[in-house]
Amino acid sequence: MSAYPAAVASGWAPVAAVRELGRGPLARRLMDTPLVVFQSAAGPAVLIDRCPHRNMALSRGRVEAGAIECPYHGWRFAGDGACVLTPGVDQPAKHGAQALPTRVRAGLVWTTLAPAPEDEPRLPFPIEAEGFDTFLWPVRPSRARLIDAIENLLDPAHPHFLHAGIVRAREMRRPVDVTIRVRSTFAEARYVENTRARALMPRLLEGLRTASIGRFFPPSTGQVAFEGPKGLRLAITVFFTPETETCVRPFAHFATPRGMAPAWLKEALLRAFHIPVLAQDRAALRKQTDDIAAFGAPRYALGPLDVLYPAINALIAGETPPESERTLRLNL
Ligand code: FES
Ligand SMILES: [Fe+2]
Repeated sequence: MSAYPAAVASGWAPVAAVRELGRGPLARRLMDTPLVVFQSAAGPAVLIDRCPHRNMALSRGRVEAGAIECPYHGWRFAGDGACVLTPGVDQPAKHGAQALPTRVRAGLVWTTLAPAPEDEPRLPFPIEAEGFDTFLWPVRPSRARLIDAIENLLDPAHPHFLHAGIVRAREMRRPVDVTIRVRSTFAEARYVENTRARALMPRLLEGLRTASIGRFFPPSTGQVAFEGPKGLRLAITVFFTPETETCVRPFAHFATPRGMAPAWLKEALLRAFHIPVLAQDRAALRKQTDDIAAFGAPRYALGPLDVLYPAINALIAGETPPESERTLRLNL
């Protein structure tokens, strides 16, 4: 049985941003399986990273004439895995490399290891919607378990400590009403404040915000959204791709309504603010993963602020949790 949650094992995952595909191939990994991603004559392609001849990793080779060339004996493979050139003979070998289904959506190259995948990856709003300035941020892989990385993005209780002063002010908690909504296809926690944020980042980026929302969409997508009086102001959607059980490669997609400020300025500000936050989260996840490894496996207590954790666990396991809605007051 797969060590990965059912929804993840049967879903699509991004393995590269299209713009990461330069001239050379990329070595990637999805749920322990080595992959090579490259720009083939027919568009971005994903193959199992194993030459059928003597099993050299194809990602060690190079892209030639829209095909990937193995560095050992020079066999070349097209995007569909077919061998198109075997040096020294006229007819290419009949043995192809194994190609995986590929989609290009939202500037990302998606693939799946599932035997019977859905037609397309699931992309939550506002991805591919009109009227938004967007940018993609492919993040370096983090040493983290998938569930911990997703929870880290959506967790309202750690910023006071891990990101004191940047995201949340440690000594300035205020009452917030949280509505937790669980549906068959997502779970969300909506935090309603109606006060001006006091920490640095929300102050500069949002002005008056009326709500912040954390959402989980199976198979492994987290989203943090901020709403103002005129609606959505910022949505950060992160697709978490599990490379191994303790390594996650996140792809972050930022969307802001067009017209607030020039796109390049918003991107520069958002990147500048998130670089230290991301570094703090990466370091914490790495330590947490190492600390868990010392005991072999996690054993978690469910705290009162862990409002989304049970629903995330159910959805990621491919279950359909009962629809529910409840509101509680927290000091955040
Ligand atoms: S190992 Fe790839 S061509 Fe021989
Ligand atoms: Fe964080």
